[in-house]
Amino acid sequence: AQTQDKAKLTVRLCGPRGFCAGVDRAIQIVVLALKKYGAPVYVRHEIVHNRYVVEGLQERGAVFIEELDEIPEEDRDRPVVFSAHGVPKSVPQEAAARNLFYLDATCPLVSKVHKQAIRHRRLGRHVLLVGHAGHPEVVGTMGQLPPGAVTLIETVEDARRFVPPVEGELGYVTQTTLSVEDTAEIIHALEQRFPTLHAPASESICYATTNRQEAVKQAAPGADLFLVVGAPNSSNSRRLVEVAERAGAARALLVQRASEIPWEEIGEVSVLGLSAGASAPEIIVEEIIDAFAERYDVTVDLAVTAEERENFPVMRALRDVELTKS
Ligand code: F3S
Repeated sequence: AQTQDKAKLTVRLCGPRGFCAGVDRAIQIVVLALKKYGAPVYVRHEIVHNRYVVEGLQERGAVFIEELDEIPEEDRDRPVVFSAHGVPKSVPQEAAARNLFYLDATCPLVSKVHKQAIRHRRLGRHVLLVGHAGHPEVVGTMGQLPPGAVTLIETVEDARRFVPPVEGELGYVTQTTLSVEDTAEIIHALEQRFPTLHAPASESICYATTNRQEAVKQAAPGADLFLVVGAPNSSNSRRLVEVAERAGAARALLVQRASEIPWEEIGEVSVLGLSAGASAPEIIVEEIIDAFAERYDVTVDLAVTAEERENFPVMRALRDVELTKS
């Protein structure tokens, strides 16, 4: 009887959404390492940008650090995992110098971008990296090459102003989690100025980023509100908010948990778009739908634009754990 009093709400639920294969693999690596080697397992940087995931792993015995020198002397025999975002070359070098046992959870699609940057350089090209300053993936990609070999391009303005530091050819790569449209504009601006600019051998923006943005584009037009589950430091989640606004959602917000939904501010909604960044667990999407169902008579419509089958296996050292898992 209660539902009769509630206003109707259509939730357009995007698919694909949430965890990508790279995030899934990174989390598995920490979980399997804890199983195989026991606690503590050190993890350099948030394994994926999600507090819920990080806290869950902490409870199991993962210890998060920003730099390797934070590992105390007595724990030098403990494994350390590098995050999915990738690390500069100096990090595994430092780990080897300190005799640490490390497991690299860098997403294979980020490693692919690293290889493309190295290839440009080997072919004598100065490298342009399109991405956001300070993001760990950008730090990791720049750190594949010596200082000065890579120039970061963040905006179309940067592309227009860029002055090559050396004569010769140019090659570019990008961060994997950028806006497909903004990146195309930046590359276009560069190509107009440098017609011989070399593209990477394969697209740097990953399948998960592209697919999540496509689904948001389909679900956003006419939505009164669009919620993206994700953390403020998650690049791909923030891009989904921008894509939703641009595609016609009246308003788009990033939320980490249902408790962050600003009910007073959002007022009455009748169509809600909903997606989740590549580092956001499905359980929070459910939590959000439940929170709306308490206030509205909810119907869920799926906005599915692609099916994903990608699955990245963990490294050999951990495969036996997987087989015998309890
Ligand atoms: Fe990898 Fe793309 Fe996810 S680069 S970690 S599959 S967002």
